This record gives sequence, structure tokens and C-alpha cells, in this order.
Amino acid sequence: MPHKKIQFNFQELMNLIFILSPPVTFMIYLHVQHTINTLELIVFFIVTALPVIMTVQHFQRKLALLDRETTLQIHDNRATKKNQILLMNIMEKLSDPILILDSADRILMANKSAHSLLGQQILKQNISVFIRNSILDDAMKHAHETGELVSCEFELGKPNPKHYLTRIHLFDLADSQITDSSQYIFLALYDISALKQTDKMRADFVANASHELRTPLASIIGFIETLQGPARNDDQAHDRFLSIMHDESSRMSRLIEDLLSLSRIERDQHIPPSDRINLSHLIKSVIDVLEPQAESKNMAIHFTSENMNNITGDHDQLTQVFQNLIENAIKYGDENTDIEVTFEASMLPDHIAAKDVTVTITNEGPGIAPEHLPRLMERFYRVDSARSRSLGGTGLGLAIVKHIIKRHKGRIFFKSELNSTTKVTLSLPIGTSPPPLS
Ligand SMILES: Nc1ncnc2c1ncn2[C@@H]1O[C@H](COP(=O)(O)OP(=O)(O)O)[C@@H](O)[C@H]1O
Ligand SMILES: [Mg+2]
Repeated sequence: MPHKKIQFNFQELMNLIFILSPPVTFMIYLHVQHTINTLELIVFFIVTALPVIMTVQHFQRKLALLDRETTLQIHDNRATKKNQILLMNIMEKLSDPILILDSADRILMANKSAHSLLGQQILKQNISVFIRNSILDDAMKHAHETGELVSCEFELGKPNPKHYLTRIHLFDLADSQITDSSQYIFLALYDISALKQTDKMRADFVANASHELRTPLASIIGFIETLQGPARNDDQAHDRFLSIMHDESSRMSRLIEDLLSLSRIERDQHIPPSDRINLSHLIKSVIDVLEPQAESKNMAIHFTSENMNNITGDHDQLTQVFQNLIENAIKYGDENTDIEVTFEASMLPDHIAAKDVTVTITNEGPGIAPEHLPRLMERFYRVDSARSRSLGGTGLGLAIVKHIIKRHKGRIFFKSELNSTTKVTLSLPIGTSPPPLS
């Protein structure tokens, strides 16, 4: 709030003396001459005193106003100081590194985050000593030249660099009473590594999906051209090529199905599932569907299930999970071996929540080397791409499983020994029925 300056007005004082002096002088004169009676004295007194009283009152009002304004100013100064401390505290506690530089790019102030990123002895030194980066140098130069807000992105830190978005605000504070330098720079560094990682994953995903679709499509186009050209009259080649084209187009169709499925699951990721499911029945029906596939490799699926309560989940999505896991056990298991599906569940009454059920699927086969285990659930990740493709795999099955289990707040672990057993353990919370909609 701006303060009005209140001062005693010299002109007003002169006016007062000017008004009072003639009657006072005249009264004194008459009194000395003994020519004034009591009534005249009273009249003279009123005439003389009235302007004096009014003027005194006027000065009293001015003094009161001055006093009030001074008190307000003291209050204001205290509030400004308090706000400054508050601002400093906020800046200090921000998780993003923040620096204030002078016009020569020397660091005047740095918050805690900036200190932990760049070091403790950074004050009064030039920023370029701590961030040696040509992108930042150019951006600073541009900010100085134009006075505009400048943003730039660069990597910082070793051995695991982080990606930072930096904003450079230039302030011209030449008129301010608090500074002796004319320009200040407010520099904020925002860690956008996670965003960059997501961006990269999306780009990789699009590239992988395109590649997966392009391969069967190229093969179909190739066979069509062969059938139209050199193999035009070759009946045997016709049958063989049409059968390959059928397989390739089925592969494309499965891939598109999986891609759509993945995008649907991602879309509904934050909607809690609400079906009441008898998991034992669900697994049994999945095994019934996959039994012929297992028999074709002379494999048997043994399912041991305990009696249990229903769980809360999404029926179709959990069917998809067990279809993929049991189908993987068949596809990547050795012929003439058995697959075990075991099922443990607590016998708690239905209304008691948050106890897990655990399903374990075990198969015998070549197994998975330890270095592949952490990456199995990535999209399009396969241990042996050629084998997976030849078995009709899209490489998306476990990525879909991962998303569904995440939605169900469950957990999944792989344990595998080379040329021995592979064990997938899946636990899901039993959950309770959601409250009825009001
Ligand atoms: N039970 C298993 N035994 C051995 N390898 C497995 C097993 N389950 C999954 N894998 C490996 O994990 C990869 C990813 O599986 P998945 O996402 O289901 O893709 P797909 O089955 O379409 O290839 C498979 O290609 C395979 O290499
Ligand atoms: Mg699979």
C-alpha cells in the first residue's frame, strides 16, 4: 500500500500567525490603555481564541492521521518481511532445483535441491562452472539478448544422467531500491526423465507394433505376387502359399486383437473390477479349452484346487490371464511332460477382505535364463523370437497379464531353472463386493 507523506505545512502556520496577530495586538493595546471593559474583553477573547482553537484542532487531526499512517507502515513492513521469509521457505523446500543469478550469471541464491544437484560451494560462482552444457549456454545467451522467457532441455549427471527441462526468466530490476545489479535470472530445472522415458516407450511401441505387422504383411504381398507371376499355373504351390498366407493373416489378426486388448485394459486401468468370481471354476473352464492343445503335445494339466470363497475381479480379464499363462506353459513346455496348476486360498468368511489367493503354474521345459526374467513382461519381449513366432505368439501376452494384475492389485513372479521347471506364481486379493450403488 503506498503511503501518503504527512508534514506540517509551513504556509498554514504562517496563516495562523497572520490571522491571530492583529486582534491579539489590538487587545493588548486596549488593555494597556485601560479603555477596554469586561464585555469587550470577552468579545475580543472569542474573536482571538476561535481561530486558535480551530487551528489547534486542525493540527491535532493531522497529527492523529500521521500517527495512524506510521503504525500502518510498521505493520506493512512486518507483513512484507513475513512474506519474504515465507517465499524463501517455499523456494527452499521445492523439489525442483532453483537458482537466482546476477547479470553476469553468478549464482546468488540456490535452494536445497539445487545444492544437492550441483554441490554446496556454488554461490558467487558462474553457473557454467557447474553445468557445462552448450544448450544451456545458448539459451542463457538468448535470454540475455532478448529478455524473453527461454526454455531448453538437456541431460545432466553421471553415470545415470537425468533429463531436465530448464526455464530461464530474466528480470530487469534496475529501478528497484533493493538491488545494485540491474538484471537477475531466475532459473528452474525440472526433472522430466520419467516423461522422456514414457515418450521413448511409446515411440518404441509404435515402431515394434509396425514392425510386427509389416513382417506378415510383406510375406503375404510376396506370395500374392508369386501366385500372380511364376506360380500362376502351379497347383501345388497355390495350396502351400495360400496356407502360409492364411497363417500370416491370422498372426496379424491376433496381433491386432492383442493391441486392442492392451489399449482397452490401459483405458480401464483405474476402474476397480467388480465381478464376484469363483476362481476355481474360471481356471477349470480355461483348462477345458486348452486341453486339446496340451494333448497334441502329449501333456497333461493337473489342477488341484481347494474349496474357496469367491473373489472380486473382472471375469473376462482373469480368463485372459489364465489362458495366457497356461497356454505359455503348454507352448514353451517340453512334450510328454505335465503341467501343474495349484491353488491356495484362505477360508475366511466372505466379508473379510484383503487376503490373497495364490495360483501357481509349473511346467517342465528349457526354462528361462535369469537375465530375461526381469524383462519378460515388456511389450514384444521374447526369449526366443523365432520360436515364439513359430508358435503363433505375439509377444504381448505377458504385457497384457501384467496390466490386468495391476488393475486387480495383485502380484506375479517368475522362477525358472534352465532345462528344468518354470514356475509362475500369481496372487490376487480376495477383496469384498463393492458397496451397492446408491
Ligand atoms: N512358461 C514359460 N516357459 C518358458 N518361457 C516362457 C514361459 N512363459 C513365457 N515365456 C517366455 O516369455 C516370452 C513372452 O511371453 P508372452 O508375452 O506370453 O508372449 P508370446 O507367448 O506371445 O511369445 C515368450 O516369448 C517366452 O519366450
Ligand atoms: Mg503368450
